[in-house]
Amino acid sequence: MLQPARPFLPDKAAHQLGIASGIILFAFISTHLLNHSLTLISVDFADDVLKIFKIIWRNPLGTLLLYGSFLVHFLLALRTLYLRRHMRLPPRMMIQVLFGLSIPVLIAQHVISARVPALYGQFDSTYWSVIRGMWTGNGLFGLKMVLAVIVVWVHGCIGLHAAMRFRDWFPRWAPWLFALAILLPTLALVGVLVNGRQMETAAEARGQVLTAADGNVARHQASRPQLDLATIERRIYLFFGLGLGLVVVLRAARSIRRNAPEIRITYAHGPQIRVPRGTSILEASRIGRVDHYSVCGGKGRCSTCRVRIVDSDGPLAPPSAMEQATLLRIRAAPDTRLSCQTRPDYDVTVALLLEPPVGGDLYSGRQVKQAGREKEIVVLFCDIRNFTTISESRLPYDIVFLLNRYFSVVGRAVEEAKGQVDKFIGDGVMALFGIDTTEPSEACRQALRAAATIVAETEKLNQEMMQEFGVDLRIAIGIHFGPAIVGMIGYGKVAGLTAIGDTVNVGSRLEAVAKQFNVAVAASEPIMLLAHVPYDGLSSRSVSLKGRKTSMRVYLLSADDAKRYA
Ligand code: FES
Repeated sequence: MLQPARPFLPDKAAHQLGIASGIILFAFISTHLLNHSLTLISVDFADDVLKIFKIIWRNPLGTLLLYGSFLVHFLLALRTLYLRRHMRLPPRMMIQVLFGLSIPVLIAQHVISARVPALYGQFDSTYWSVIRGMWTGNGLFGLKMVLAVIVVWVHGCIGLHAAMRFRDWFPRWAPWLFALAILLPTLALVGVLVNGRQMETAAEARGQVLTAADGNVARHQASRPQLDLATIERRIYLFFGLGLGLVVVLRAARSIRRNAPEIRITYAHGPQIRVPRGTSILEASRIGRVDHYSVCGGKGRCSTCRVRIVDSDGPLAPPSAMEQATLLRIRAAPDTRLSCQTRPDYDVTVALLLEPPVGGDLYSGRQVKQAGREKEIVVLFCDIRNFTTISESRLPYDIVFLLNRYFSVVGRAVEEAKGQVDKFIGDGVMALFGIDTTEPSEACRQALRAAATIVAETEKLNQEMMQEFGVDLRIAIGIHFGPAIVGMIGYGKVAGLTAIGDTVNVGSRLEAVAKQFNVAVAASEPIMLLAHVPYDGLSSRSVSLKGRKTSMRVYLLSADDAKRYA
C-alpha cells in the first residue's frame, strides 16, 4: 500500500511545533510593536524600554528561541507547501500563506541592519537611528517597514486565531484581543510616523536636511568584509528563495514520479472529481467545489469533515494517531474517516456525514457556531408542577395570561443573572449559563442566583394570582453542570443557539426530582461544589436518574434554602 508522504515529522508534532514557534514569534513582535508605541511618550523612553527587551531577546537563550522559531516556522511552511496537493485555499488561508512567504523579503534588511553590527560590537541601533533611517532616503525603506508591520501582524493574528479559537477561554477574551490587535500596530506606526516627522521638522528648523547617512548608521558603519550587510541580505534572500525553489522542484518530481497520477473520488450525493493520487478527500472537495464542512480547517481536530467510506478500489492507509484519537472521541463507525486526513490511493466513493446547511458560509465564524462546539455549561429547567390541575379548571385566556406572567418572572430572573433563556416548552423553561464567556464557577452561581430570584418572585406573583385567579403556582427547578454541544440548531428564522447532550437531559430529569421530593430546587453535586457557596445543612440524596448507569448526589433545596443564594 502506498503511504502518503509525511516528510520529516508526523502531522501532530508539526502542528504543535508550528503553534509553539508561532507563539514565540508573536510574543517577540508584540513586544517590538509595544516598544514602537512607546515612542508616542518619548523616543528616549522607548529607547530605555528597548534596552530591557534587548536583554530578553538578545541573550543566548532568547536569540536561540527567536531565530530558531523563525527557522522552524519557515521550514514547517515549506513542508506544508510540499504536502499540499493543490493551492486552492479559502481566502483566509491564502492570505496567511502569501503574507507568510513575503515576510522574509520585507524584514531581512531591517533585521540585518539592526542586529548584525550589534553582534560584532560595531553599532547598536536605537530608535533615533532607526526612525531617521526610515524617514530619509527615497522613502522606500520606510514604506517597506510599514508594510512589514501590517503583513507580519496580520499573519500572526490569523495563525493565533486558528490555533486558539476552539479553546474554552477564547470567546471570553476575543473582544479584548481584537481591540489589542487593532490598537497595537496602529499605535506603533503612529509613533514612528509622528517622531519621524518631528525629526524632519527639527532638521529643517536648523537649516539641515535629514539624511539617510545619519539614520542608517549601521549600514554605513559596516566597513569590515564580514559586515557587508548587502551581501548578507542577498544570501538570506537566496536561502529563502532556494527553500521555495526546492519545494517547487520536489512537487514537480512528485507529479512526474506518479505512474497512476489520478484517482476518482465519487460523492454519494452526486459529484465526481478526478484528483492526483494522495490528495486528501477534503482537498478534493475544495478542488471540485463540493460544499464540505471543515471547521478546524483540516487539522484533524474538529471531526466535522468526517465521511463514510462507501466503497474503495483498494485499501486506505490506516488512520494516523491524531485521526484515530478524534475518531475515538466521536465513537465513529469503522467505515468513518476524517476527510482532511485521508489520502486515498485508489478510486473511492464517500458520503459526507455532516452536510453544510443550505447557504452556509463554509469558512466563517458562523459555521463554527452552526457546527457546534463542546462546552461546559449550566442548564436550568423550571416547570410549574401543578400546571395540569390549573389548566383544567381555567379558561384558556386566563392560562395564556398566567403563563406569560410566569414566563416574564423566569425570563427576567435568568437575564438578570446573566444567563440565557433557551426555550419555552409548554409550561417549562430551559435556560443556559456560561455559554460564551463565563467561568464554570461563576455560571453555577448565576444559575443558583436565578433560581433564588425565580422562587422569590413566584411567591410575590402568587399573592397577586391568588386574589385574581385563586391559583398558587408551585414551581420545580432542576440545575446541572457538565459538557454539552452548543451550536446553532434549527432552520431559517427559527434557528437559534442551543445546547444538546447528556447535561441537558440530566438538568431536565433533576427538575422531575424536585417534583418527586416536593422541593423548589434540585441541584446536582457539581453545581454546589463548583459554585463555592456554603451548602451545609442542605439535604441531599443519592438519586438514580433514567439513562445513567451510576447514581448522582443531588441537593434538595426548599424555597427558603433556594433564596439563600439570591
Ligand atoms: S476539518 Fe476538522 S477534522 Fe477535518
